[in-house]
Amino acid sequence: MFYPDDVIEEVRNRNDIVDIVSQYVNLKKKGANYFGLCPFHNEKSPSFSVSPGKQMYYCFGCGAGGNVISFVMDYENYSFVEAVKMLADRAGITLPEVEYSKEAREQASLKNMLLEINKLAANYFYYQLKQPSGKTGYDYFRNRGLSDETIRHFGLGFANKTPDDLYRFMRSKGYSDAILKETGLFFIEERGARDKFWNRVMFPIMDVNNRVIGFGGRVMGSGEPKYLNSPETKLFDKSRNLYGLNFARTSRAGYMLICEGYMDVIAMQQAGFTNAVASLGTAFTSQHALLLKRYTDQAILTYDSDGAGVKAALRAIPILKEVGMSVRVLNMKPYKDPDEFIKNLGKEEFQKRIDGAVNSFMFEISVIRSGYSMQDPEQKTAFYNDIAKKLLEFPEKLERDNYTEAVAREYMIPPDDLKRLVASLGGRIGGTGSGVRTSATYEERAKQKKEKEDGILKSQRLLLTWLIERPELFDKIDGLIGPEDFDEGLYREVAGLVFEEHKKGAINPAHILNHFAEGEEQYREAAALFHASISESLDNGEQRRAFSETVKKIKKHSLGIQSSKAKDIGELQKIIRQQSELAGIQITLD
Ligand code: UTP
Ligand code: MN
Repeated sequence: MFYPDDVIEEVRNRNDIVDIVSQYVNLKKKGANYFGLCPFHNEKSPSFSVSPGKQMYYCFGCGAGGNVISFVMDYENYSFVEAVKMLADRAGITLPEVEYSKEAREQASLKNMLLEINKLAANYFYYQLKQPSGKTGYDYFRNRGLSDETIRHFGLGFANKTPDDLYRFMRSKGYSDAILKETGLFFIEERGARDKFWNRVMFPIMDVNNRVIGFGGRVMGSGEPKYLNSPETKLFDKSRNLYGLNFARTSRAGYMLICEGYMDVIAMQQAGFTNAVASLGTAFTSQHALLLKRYTDQAILTYDSDGAGVKAALRAIPILKEVGMSVRVLNMKPYKDPDEFIKNLGKEEFQKRIDGAVNSFMFEISVIRSGYSMQDPEQKTAFYNDIAKKLLEFPEKLERDNYTEAVAREYMIPPDDLKRLVASLGGRIGGTGSGVRTSATYEERAKQKKEKEDGILKSQRLLLTWLIERPELFDKIDGLIGPEDFDEGLYREVAGLVFEEHKKGAINPAHILNHFAEGEEQYREAAALFHASISESLDNGEQRRAFSETVKKIKKHSLGIQSSKAKDIGELQKIIRQQSELAGIQITLD
């Protein structure tokens, strides 16, 4: 923390969240809460809620959430300190001279300095592009069809042929070798220092808050590697950032276009498809998928039409589906990538391809199909068998039947034949004939395990929210459940704070959130956690029973974990005793 806790608390207390949010969002009161259209993602019906009681906001659509300070940070792209200053000003509070802890100061100033240097470097590259010496770069972009406005919008630039001019520029600004080393923009050795990027056109990579966190540079002419990217640094985590997302996040399209590279993102966005993003010189990861899921649950893959692009699409599909996104694949043929396509056929044709993008399952089948020759009866049979196996991946009969029919239609297979094949294969693989079991049982088991884990986390989340809403419940669980019964990590940490504040007399969720202001991901999760039960309050009998069940479920899970870690037989016996006692416990709320 940069300011003492009580100062931050005063700033927060003196700025009512409803007042502040109302300045940006049109809010309507509904029961105890206010609702409006979420300012952090595009939506048509309001899922953004503000709770005056908790002094927090939460969006059920994109998961954005927090207190008044984080709202200002997110909305205005302010750092924590900037947001506190703004709110203090507004409330007429004079802030004390900042009190830095040594470590906090070092970490914060390192990150800030890296941001500052990146921004300076981006400006420098942009400036170079407009100089006579940068003409090669400028012409390159113009020849690839980029307008001046696009070049400005994306902050594109040029790194000169001189191998150390950025380094010398930074030194002239007073930065030390030690800090310059951390940027990943230089090779600094005993013998001397060189720029990492030279004679390349430059693409600054921005995070969702428009801050430059790294660079990509494309070689002029042919040469290897074609694209050079900043290494991972304290700022730049490749698996958590997507190129173009800073613009795409506010697109109103309702889906995201995922492509392979910088130029594709820029070409699409220039043509008006501002919802285009790319992963950066690295494969698409689950973190990328989760990041996108905050804004939409629809993705269209616009990967290259070559073998590598198809492979990348086949890899990305399950990753996106795993987080609950629905995926379609766009056909770019006869062109290689969106950039070439748009250049040759224009944006109207591209829009048609978007409209005609096929569902990811049908895409997967078409890839399987391309591996077989339909002229050869043996291969044809093998193809049908492959299709049937793939269809068995749908656990629901209805869905499986629908897809079976769609595939049959597409490949002109008599539908009943295909259905019979699927059924017989399902029977053989599963053995039981009841419900389809496939070779994917391992995955199924993993899925079940995951669902169970999610269930436990949901219970823990519910209990925390209930405890916050109804402090009198603490008496009911006294001696039965404590912070140590929550899963390690975020949940246990939050539970610890909730129990601690209760002991002190009053729980203040917005205050608890301040503990997480630094790490963005954790912060969001913590905010979401407090909102788990807006719709699940304890107002009816069923929910009262649910309270008792939830408490027992959490305890049972916790005891299970403890027993697997028990060091000796005495400890184990104690746990077993508690386990059997648990069954008899009744918690009544009346
Ligand atoms: P491509 O080779 O398909 O390049 O790589 P491209 O985007 O079509 O590039 P242009 O049109 O020739 O300029 C796709 C993406 O893979 C990453 C880059 O992000 C690139 O945009 N890549 C490619 C690298 O990181 N390094 C490389 O050497 C090549
Ligand atoms: Mn290309």
